[in-house]
Amino acid sequence: MPRSDDLQFFLDELKTSIAKCQPAHEIQSATTLAFQRLETLGQEKWSSNHSEAPATAWLEQAIKTAKAGPTGKLADALENLAPKLFWQRRMDRPSIHPKWPNSHANSVIIGDTGLECRNDVRIGVSLLAPYTIYPNHQHPPEEVYIALSNGSWRQNDGFWQTRGAGGLIYNPPNIVHAMKSNSDPLLAIWILPLSLL
Ligand SMILES: [Fe+2]
Repeated sequence: MPRSDDLQFFLDELKTSIAKCQPAHEIQSATTLAFQRLETLGQEKWSSNHSEAPATAWLEQAIKTAKAGPTGKLADALENLAPKLFWQRRMDRPSIHPKWPNSHANSVIIGDTGLECRNDVRIGVSLLAPYTIYPNHQHPPEEVYIALSNGSWRQNDGFWQTRGAGGLIYNPPNIVHAMKSNSDPLLAIWILPLSLL
């Protein structure tokens, strides 16, 4: 059975949007690997939209703003998928901020708990309410973000780097990194090619 139209459209728009943003070599290399793997289908699961994350109250506004910007078609594709997404909170990411539990939401699109179940690529979306810091974390796979909104990203103890819609961010394996929203909700898609053991 082929991949569903909504999911394929989203992946096509993701690939096109990254290519349009003139990716640096390491981003091109990581995303080329991910999209090559995605030429083989994983197991698609159908789920009804549900959420364990109050921050999804910001989703409509974030998508509406993104649709009017340079990643508008990617935002359209994400909007098409929205009825199937399962939004969760990352309570394993320690934060000292009392609003953290209700001010962020993550949804896996491709991956072990995503709409397409597979273990070689992980793709998902993060949403932050305004003025929220997604705290420092690290993981072995390298990671590429594409911003669909304004936001800021940081590695180690470096300065916050602000990106607008269409901005790309590359996190090498195991680097400590964080992101934060400013006055707008932050919407960003992340891509991790996973190591195959
Ligand atoms: Fe990360």
